Amino acid sequence: MVVADALDRFFSDVDLGILPSIQDIEYIIGQREPEVDLALSRRAHSVRVHSLGEKIHLRAIIEFSNYCRQDCLYCGLRRSNRSAARYRMTPEEIVSAARQASKLYPFRTYVLQSGEDPAYPPEGLAEAIAAIKAELDAAVTLSTGEHPQEVLRMWRDSGADRFLLKFETSHCDLFALLKPTTTWAKRFGCIQNLKDLGYQVGSGIILGLPGQTDQSLVQDLKLMAEMGLDMASIGPFIPHPETPLGAFRHPDEAELVRKTMRLTAITRLLLPRAHIPATTALGVMGARNPSWQKGWPAKLAEEQGLRLNPDPRSISLVLGANVIMIDVTPPHFRVSYDIYPGKAGADGEVEEVVARALDLISSAGMEISEDRGDSPRFVERISGGAS
Ligand code: 5AD
Repeated sequence: MVVADALDRFFSDVDLGILPSIQDIEYIIGQREPEVDLALSRRAHSVRVHSLGEKIHLRAIIEFSNYCRQDCLYCGLRRSNRSAARYRMTPEEIVSAARQASKLYPFRTYVLQSGEDPAYPPEGLAEAIAAIKAELDAAVTLSTGEHPQEVLRMWRDSGADRFLLKFETSHCDLFALLKPTTTWAKRFGCIQNLKDLGYQVGSGIILGLPGQTDQSLVQDLKLMAEMGLDMASIGPFIPHPETPLGAFRHPDEAELVRKTMRLTAITRLLLPRAHIPATTALGVMGARNPSWQKGWPAKLAEEQGLRLNPDPRSISLVLGANVIMIDVTPPHFRVSYDIYPGKAGADGEVEEVVARALDLISSAGMEISEDRGDSPRFVERISGGAS
């Protein structure tokens, strides 16, 4: 069978540490054979356990500003969205949110995320980073968009460890169309600066964007592998009504959920040691299309002894993903961080959000790591080992 041949070649290439052929990756992405998904998932899980262990890492995320100078066609925070209620937390409010969250669970990473807020003083964020690093025994990850090298350096100097900057799509025409206020060169220049400054770097894509094809997805995966990312992420596109793509509907959302899981497994095989989240967007899209469970996910859950849950993030954690993000933004701000509709855990006090996430993890029988969850490459670098 042709799919089986492509899969065999794919597995032996990744075992040898070489990038599989474009044709094989494309073939595997486009296939819909449950057995192939099961084989990919089993392999991805065993690679994850072998290279990073069985535990999962929790990251507490604080969304500290939803102002954005960019105008991305898919995102609810885009500057043209006049109906968005904008907010900006002070550095003190950021630190206090982290402190409150730390009382509920001893998080080892705080992710500080925002739109690309031109009015947020970089020094203010630097103060918040330094205060969190001084007070809490945790890493700080930034996810604040594109910034000049001096600013990235200031934040790194004040203690930021990691940075997430997704390239969203490697399809240059699509990138230009969807992100009219930046360029591919700027975004990649920024990613290069982050690497040069010694950040652990995360990137990734949105899956299911209009105009995206399996060919362009292969290029996305290839690029992620070649970038040697410390963190890689794939989330499904969820249209936001107040954006130009608001009326777009994926023809089969349950299949998009399964495809997100398939690409997560493939990403794990291409980047064995990267930290890969079971994305929040996957949780949202899965919860509103429970029929994603039909077919191979139900079988995988059974094999792994998981109780099937409408939230596909627990399954994602047994097919290569090893990270869960928990939103600990104070609720009165959080409701306005409206990137896409229905963000998981969007309602309730921080206590409830944390309790729900811990419940999801324990009901899946998974253990939480007590480590910071740094990139293995980074740990080797600072301890003088091979890089
Ligand atoms: N659907 C899914 N993900 C989105 N993002 C932005 N808008 C959407 C959307 N409509 C993702 C982008 C960004 C991250 C913070 O959220 O990948 O990098």
